[in-house]
Amino acid sequence: MYGLVNKAIRQMVIEGHGEETWQGIRVLAGVTDDHFVSLDPYPDDITYNLVGAASKVLGAKPETLLHAFGNYWVEFAWKGDYRHILSASGRTFSAFVGNLDQLHSRLRATFPEYAPPSFRVSDEGPSALKLHYYSHRQGLLPFVAGLLEGVGRRFHVQVSTEFLPRADGADHEMMLVSWGPEEVKPPHA
Ligand code: HEM
Repeated sequence: MYGLVNKAIRQMVIEGHGEETWQGIRVLAGVTDDHFVSLDPYPDDITYNLVGAASKVLGAKPETLLHAFGNYWVEFAWKGDYRHILSASGRTFSAFVGNLDQLHSRLRATFPEYAPPSFRVSDEGPSALKLHYYSHRQGLLPFVAGLLEGVGRRFHVQVSTEFLPRADGADHEMMLVSWGPEEVKPPHA
């Protein structure tokens, strides 16, 4: 995946756990260079190894880390150079989700060699939809769930996801996505 993704992982670990922990994860993942070039493609193994090493060092499941990374990615992209694309991708949560392929297509000029996922919406209702997720990569469903949660936060809705079993021979994953008014937590809860 493009260096931007690994860079975001690096930043998330450093912000949450400090530079030293990051260095431990990087070395365990067998990554020799501590600098990722955002606009250079890297083998997917680097990203997967970083998540695997982070899981060992932090004692958290890879799925939990990927979920957290999805949340983080939305903030990372919104604060970084991609805010304009995100804010032009839909005025509501459901419109945004329906535009995910357009969003990635617009980024093609920036990441010419990338292999982004593809998404399709079906069974759309006022507060739920079925999301079809197509990717040649494995194991990233928790990342998608975290991304959707992060996007929801931007639209002030609380998002829940439920993975649906993959049918025999299906070429994609499916999940139920529902959303509702954001829960306002009392302070110190
Ligand atoms: C403007 C914000 C975004 C940028 C800059 C961006 C960019 C990227 C890039 C560079 C990759 C790596 C692909 C590769 O190198 O082959 C990627 C992968 C991915 N993106 Fe986005 N993306 C954005 C928003 C989103 C959002 C909102 C979603 C919500 C579902 C999403 C879903 C994914 C997923 C699931 C992958 C993992 C690859 C896979 O599933 O095969 N992205 N994106």
